Amino acid sequence: MANMDDQFKRVVSHCKEYGFVFQSSELYDGLSAVYDYGPLGVELKNNIKQYWWAAMVQAHEEIVGIDSAIFMHPRIWKASGHVDAFNDPLIDNKDSKKRYRADVLIEDYVGKIDAKIEKEVKKAAKRFGDAFDKEQFLATNPRVLANKEKIAAIEGRLGQAMTDGNLADIKAQIEELGIACPVSGSKNWTDVRQFNLMFNTQLGNISGEEAKLYLRPETAQGIFVNYLNVQKTSRKKLPFGIAQIGKAFRNEIVARQFIFRMREFEQMEMQYFVQPGEEMKWYEYWKEKRLKWHLALGISEEMYRFHDHDNLAHYANAAADIQFNFPFGFKELEGIHSRTDFDLSSHEEYSGRNVKYFDPERNESYVPYVVETSVGLDRMFLSMMCSALQVETVKDAKGNDTERTVLKLPHALAPIKVAVLPLLKNKPELTERARKIFDALKFDLQAQYDEKDAIGKRYRRQDAAGTPYCVTIDFETLEDNCVTIRDRDNLKQERVQIADIKNYVSKTTKMSSLLSKF
Ligand code: GAP
Repeated sequence: MANMDDQFKRVVSHCKEYGFVFQSSELYDGLSAVYDYGPLGVELKNNIKQYWWAAMVQAHEEIVGIDSAIFMHPRIWKASGHVDAFNDPLIDNKDSKKRYRADVLIEDYVGKIDAKIEKEVKKAAKRFGDAFDKEQFLATNPRVLANKEKIAAIEGRLGQAMTDGNLADIKAQIEELGIACPVSGSKNWTDVRQFNLMFNTQLGNISGEEAKLYLRPETAQGIFVNYLNVQKTSRKKLPFGIAQIGKAFRNEIVARQFIFRMREFEQMEMQYFVQPGEEMKWYEYWKEKRLKWHLALGISEEMYRFHDHDNLAHYANAAADIQFNFPFGFKELEGIHSRTDFDLSSHEEYSGRNVKYFDPERNESYVPYVVETSVGLDRMFLSMMCSALQVETVKDAKGNDTERTVLKLPHALAPIKVAVLPLLKNKPELTERARKIFDALKFDLQAQYDEKDAIGKRYRRQDAAGTPYCVTIDFETLEDNCVTIRDRDNLKQERVQIADIKNYVSKTTKMSSLLSKF
């Protein structure tokens, strides 16, 4: 088993080598924290979007979708609080001249203590075997308890300092914890300063504040300012939701860890409009529902955990992350936020227009409260790649041990569902039959025809692409109308009638095989 650093490096190079993700503008030495998705990457990304859309919009009669513009009236960002409060605390190391997010330096320090706890758990699990009770161990082991206490104290103080905008205390904490620059090891820090994360540009050739346009830092505001249009045209009653998938932009101070923290990324967000006073019920409901969506992908439950926010954003009265255990530790994958009526009330105030919902049952008008779920598409992509990529030892045709790189993506998300492979390239009777089979599948399934290289090499290529099934057309096919279907995960081969291929492959690769799990 590779260590976590090696696993992460392997994911990054696999993404490039097999056409999942490329550095943006590579020809010009790249643009930092901006990435392009290649042929396999765009398919995986589209499949994740489809899984989310089907689970949120198709599966819920009370949720509808929109696609709002990236550019919006600049006052929207004043009303939402982003112009004044969408800041990150920035700190520079005077010796290395490297710039960091001060809160992330502290969070990384906490991550190291967390890793110590994980290590204790693994050691104890090994020692006690089947008799190991993780919950009890976490609740009673003195070293774990001391570390947990340490984490709570650090996070509590950081949360308070972030909420109060107490930059001096964030710096004091960095110094007291003895945090050093990861590059130089120096502890010679500047003061902490606020840095606004929004990119801006100009509208037409007009200058001045009114013509300042922002690239949206979240898709949510496009939903808020459209909520009455949507509610009226789709005749929805509370509670109802509006979902959207789209680009967001943040001028991140430090963009590290590949596609984890990007300056241009995609969000899948859903705003759920509820009666005031009912928001905590719906907040708990969506926390549970969203975790189930992740777990249906079949990745071990231990890879996910909730993390309640100590430091609430300016709009929230409760917030939690679903964190994923990336190779660099547990980090935020999705946020579930109870945003109160902050955004809608603020838009009412700044626009001077009534945005109240008329409740026919209560015969009164009020501003709804909102619970949102917000998951980063690129982070979902990264979590899938990190958990799927494996290097295994298998037997080759001669029975010798050999290594294979395989991407065990959930079948329904795989970029290619089935590869159609004639056994030999220079036998027209095989290639013609294979092409026919490919043509019969290609509009229903993400299929690929491949005749180049020896069959073993083609299998390995499909393993690395994450293709669940390879269909091989051999000389027997011409006699018995059957093909060999090879399973990516267990390498078993089965003879299947040509007429049954579509059903065989669809059974595990269709989106409903995931959606029916929750
Ligand atoms: N509307 C709420 C909102 O935007 P957030 O926690 O700031 O909340 C939601 O972002 C999700 O967007 C995160 O959980 C993460 O998955 C993704 N995200 C945020 N910043 C990102 C970045 N710089 N690069 C990639 N994904 C990001």
